[in-house]
Amino acid sequence: MNVLILGSGGREHVLAWKTAQSSVVQNLFVAPGNAGTAQVAKNVDLSVMDFDSVASFCKSNAIDVLIPGSEDPLVAGITDFIDAQDGLDVFVLGPNKAAAQLEGSKDYAKAFMIENDIPTAQYGTFTADTIQEAKAYLRTKNAPYVLKADGLAAGKGVVISESLEHADETLDDMLLDKKFGDASSQVVIEDFLSGVEFSIFALSDGENYIILPEAKDYKRIGENDTGLNTGGMGAVSPVPFMTDEYLSQVEKEIITPTFEGLKNRNMPFVGFVFFGLINDNGSPKVIEYNVRMGDPETEVVFPRLKNDFGKILKLASNKRLNEVNVQVDDRVCTTVFAVSGGYPESYTTGAKIEFRPHQANDSVVFHAGTKIDDNDILTNGGRVIAVSAFGENIQDALSKSYDGIGHIAFDKMYYRKDIGQDLLTLSK
Ligand code: AMP
Ligand code: GLY
Repeated sequence: MNVLILGSGGREHVLAWKTAQSSVVQNLFVAPGNAGTAQVAKNVDLSVMDFDSVASFCKSNAIDVLIPGSEDPLVAGITDFIDAQDGLDVFVLGPNKAAAQLEGSKDYAKAFMIENDIPTAQYGTFTADTIQEAKAYLRTKNAPYVLKADGLAAGKGVVISESLEHADETLDDMLLDKKFGDASSQVVIEDFLSGVEFSIFALSDGENYIILPEAKDYKRIGENDTGLNTGGMGAVSPVPFMTDEYLSQVEKEIITPTFEGLKNRNMPFVGFVFFGLINDNGSPKVIEYNVRMGDPETEVVFPRLKNDFGKILKLASNKRLNEVNVQVDDRVCTTVFAVSGGYPESYTTGAKIEFRPHQANDSVVFHAGTKIDDNDILTNGGRVIAVSAFGENIQDALSKSYDGIGHIAFDKMYYRKDIGQDLLTLSK
């Protein structure tokens, strides 16, 4: 089996690392990839949004499975595009454009959840024409107010306002001044939910699904969850409150109705669903759907998956995921991200990354924003490198992640020192 993975982040390095270990995968490519993916696969200089070039690469390299890592090509319809090519028999591990709306439109996702009785915050959707209704709706709610641009906004489309005045201004920015372009031509206002956020992942072949381990990520740049949102500064899997009983509740109330609801809309889902959940006093509620794996969640979820991923891909392409017996490593896996100083605001790239000799015990280094320059590896983005590690408990895994990070250095490197600390106080 020949596999092409699209993307250049930490998630794609993990997917490539895992796929490369498969006994049924012959050739593995990543486009465009990074310095880490080059260690386990062949990097290909292709843009993930250049569907024509992706299709011709698939044809000339007899690709059997295509895995788009991020949402952009999926929401833009790469699956439909590849499926429509004459003479190309590629299984795309990702939803078609219609099903990708679960992530591509918050309004679509909310209406879908309400229709299928999937627990989520109450909401209203408004446009520039109904901005006065939006402001009246806010006045029926209490602070904090949650306002979401409907479309993809690179993770920046959610604003939580503490005052009515700020919420009104945000509505003006999004709806009248098109702060996020077309993505904010509709705005979803929803009730604020409080509780511990976590994510769980499922992989579906359109008929059957398997559930992958859950994770919690750390989005803010600063310690104690302060400062700006980032792509993710670290992650932990499992989360202490995920008992078998709670997982059954999540499956019954959220995962099964999601896949059933999609089938009922005549849009069976193929690919990963990332359920962004919040534990609202013991009741799981959906904050968002994504139609792909998370980053940095993949860095802790996939190392725990013991199955041969190539075999899972093969079964998925034949709608036989029901035959997979998911095997999960019982140990805790943590990851800590090293980022370029200044990120998520302005930062520089091109710094040489130094890897000091390290007796790595149960840990693995995943690259995100890195590139190869002759014999050096240079920084090439905000989030640069993550160290994932296994441990008997969260503290043990974290000590190994931090030990690994301590053996990596580059100019203005920054990382959070408090990943996972909040979970230590939650009882199992
Ligand atoms: P989203 O892009 O929908 O995941 O939202 C980004 C972040 O905003 C989430 O990870 C939450 O931290 C926060 N958020 C979104 N919706 C809500 C909500 N209804 N209540 C509280 N926090 C929320
Ligand atoms: N870690 C959040 C995401 O991948 O969207």
